Amino acid sequence: MRFIIPTLSIAAVATALPSQQPRTTTPSQSKGFYLAAKLADGASDIDPPVNGLFLGTAHTGAGLNAAVFYTAGRLFYQNGTAGDSTIVTDGGTPPFPSSLTVNGPTEPRRILDINVGEGTANAIVETNGQPQLVNGLGEGGYLACIAEVPYYRQDFTTLQFDYSDGQAAVPEGCVRVTLVPQCAELNELPDGSYSSHEFAMDVACSA
Ligand SMILES: *[C@@H]1O[C@H](CO)[C@@H](O)[C@H](O)[C@H]1NC(C)=O
Repeated sequence: MRFIIPTLSIAAVATALPSQQPRTTTPSQSKGFYLAAKLADGASDIDPPVNGLFLGTAHTGAGLNAAVFYTAGRLFYQNGTAGDSTIVTDGGTPPFPSSLTVNGPTEPRRILDINVGEGTANAIVETNGQPQLVNGLGEGGYLACIAEVPYYRQDFTTLQFDYSDGQAAVPEGCVRVTLVPQCAELNELPDGSYSSHEFAMDVACSA
């Protein structure tokens, strides 16, 4: 009998709600965001799974980092102006900027970098109602690949970019992903920071 009461109250709440409310996923806006890996349509996950993990960095030398996925990622912002922007994260004391750096279309595919200084052209662009990371250097898609980061001689789930735009087969140990920004508050910077949030842009993101 005890179980009937919550059942009834859920039913009461359900009838109180306006019926057929459309589930529009109106994206929010934010200056700060995390980047979540989302499997491309129909893709089956790699092992260990990457779906829902967040983009972060693995230190690989002075000012150098590999772009890898973790359960807790780094806070990013889009720096610049519309049509001319990069994706930046702050680190260190005092904070300094590191930026996503993608290899060019004619260079061999590799693990992307998040290195100190300015990065390559990248932006959050809303595509089919879904805000996502877009590479400004050329068409294609992102891959999450289990690959060795030589600095550690260990496998990580790495971020790579495939310029074949779906023409080439997905490489062994990789899966096609999109990177979906999740809204987060962009922190205030302490005095003496090398980073600046003056040119941090509002981007569309998932709430
Ligand atoms: C951020 O954008 C401003 C304006 O375009 C630029 O001067 C600055 O160098 C950029 N910062 C980074 C880390 O790229």
